[in-house]
Amino acid sequence: MMKKQDNELDQNGYSIIKGTSIEAFSEYVLCFGEVINTTEVKVKENPKAFVTSSKAIPFHTDHHAADYVAWFCREQASVGGETMLIDTTKILYQYSVDELEELKGIHFTEHTLFEGDVGSCPLLDMSFKNKWKIYYSFELHGNPKTHNPTLRKLENDISNLTAITIRLMPGDALIIDNRRMLHGRSQIQGNKHRHLTRYWIK
Ligand SMILES: [Fe+2]
Repeated sequence: MMKKQDNELDQNGYSIIKGTSIEAFSEYVLCFGEVINTTEVKVKENPKAFVTSSKAIPFHTDHHAADYVAWFCREQASVGGETMLIDTTKILYQYSVDELEELKGIHFTEHTLFEGDVGSCPLLDMSFKNKWKIYYSFELHGNPKTHNPTLRKLENDISNLTAITIRLMPGDALIIDNRRMLHGRSQIQGNKHRHLTRYWIK
């Protein structure tokens, strides 16, 4: 069994594991908690969801119930398909208490998948040990008439920060703190044979 690398994950918000196997990695993710969802991420002919299209995916977090998201790379496309990460702690530390309070009042729409899901989640949540947890998705909940200036500032800060770019190759795996690191993906091009197994860990 692989050794749990939680120091790296705690410090950087992500950890890369090279040269593993799907069997070893499936066992490894259990060190972090319960796997609440496993998805095969592949490009589909007629995609119904973003994740199965070949399009670039803007920065977001996955479902708020996933404390960690992990991917094992089975195959990579001949061109593109890079995973991109933004560490929100590098942005939020400079926000005032009032600005953070304002972000706590903004909600994004979320798919209802698990018991207790209400269809939305606040952008910021305070967890135990005074640690901020972020939820950042594509659609604002409740159709707000005006775009909040603090949210605009956050969007600006996200687009100005240089993303960590990772190109996973077969046998590589990545685990991220989903409530801290935003993730996105560059367009999948070339043979489009990208195939990742994704785990949501609670
Ligand atoms: Fe995602």
